[in-house]
Amino acid sequence: MAREQVGVCAEGNLHGQYLLFNCTEGAEQVLRGQLADISHYIEEMTETYSDIALTGFIAIGANYWDLLYPKNRPVLLRPFPSMRHEDRHAPAMPYDLFIQIRSDRLDITYMVSHEICLMLQDLATLVEEIKSFRYLDSRDLTGFVDGTENPKGVNRQKVALVGDEDNEFRGGSYIHIQRYRHDLNRWNKLKVKSQEDIIGRTKKENHEYSSFNQPKTAHIRRTSLKDGQGNSLEILRQSMPYGDMQEQGLFFISCCSSPANFELMLRSMIVGDHKGHYDHLLNFTQAVSGAAFFAPSLSYLAASN
Ligand code: HEM
Repeated sequence: MAREQVGVCAEGNLHGQYLLFNCTEGAEQVLRGQLADISHYIEEMTETYSDIALTGFIAIGANYWDLLYPKNRPVLLRPFPSMRHEDRHAPAMPYDLFIQIRSDRLDITYMVSHEICLMLQDLATLVEEIKSFRYLDSRDLTGFVDGTENPKGVNRQKVALVGDEDNEFRGGSYIHIQRYRHDLNRWNKLKVKSQEDIIGRTKKENHEYSSFNQPKTAHIRRTSLKDGQGNSLEILRQSMPYGDMQEQGLFFISCCSSPANFELMLRSMIVGDHKGHYDHLLNFTQAVSGAAFFAPSLSYLAASN
């Protein structure tokens, strides 16, 4: 039975640390062993710090996978779908590794992240790190509750993890990240009603607009998609706010059993429908990075070292 990395489907936390690395050429064999060790270390820390819900996961970049694990590849793993339409764009960055650590204590999140960086010394270069935090009652910095319509309970696993369709990679997850930078000065000048129309939910009470009242440009309208049979296309979002007094935004993370759902949603936001209805949230936030990864199961990491 393939065991997933606990952080993929974890419930929300107070603090997160995102580590993005590019790997040293020729280090692949040692790195495979070290990633297995790091996944054990995260498991150990998850047990030790269960009271503060510490979790984490390791994900391998779509463009780096074949160098690290040349023998086999998740069937649907493909590069980040960078796209551009009018003045909206989703850039892709060449990251080899993404590691997420989260817990309800900043010091322990720091300690575990630091230990992982030491374990990767000489094998990988840290090219970006972002600290995230829970804002109020799980709101994005736009002031809207984020994550309400995320899958719940066992449905989180069903949505986020690969099943029998790719047996070798069962328990793994297709991960997409995007760091969004908000223009909060402009956003905060909008009337609350205009903000609500852009999201498709009320701000304070977090009530969903009825479908009749949802503008075609509302974020939830553009991201609530269905397949040809009328089934909802779902992703598990693990996004959290980040920022300081100078720059603020959302570190968006999608975990899914297939990359297609995220790709379709992103296209619906940026390109929109055939009548030009794109996601008006994009008038106030801009993706500054993006990358696609696969987070293999613990069993895969252990067996492939
Ligand atoms: C700056 C970037 C973003 C912000 C601030 C944001 C914020 C929000 C908020 C406030 C909601 C409503 C509450 C909820 O159900 O979580 C929401 C819903 C959602 N968002 Fe985003 N989001 C962002 C980017 C994205 C991206 C890039 C995607 C996918 C490509 C996405 C997919 C979704 C989905 C699937 C829902 C649930 C829709 C529903 O079924 O009601 N979001 N987002």
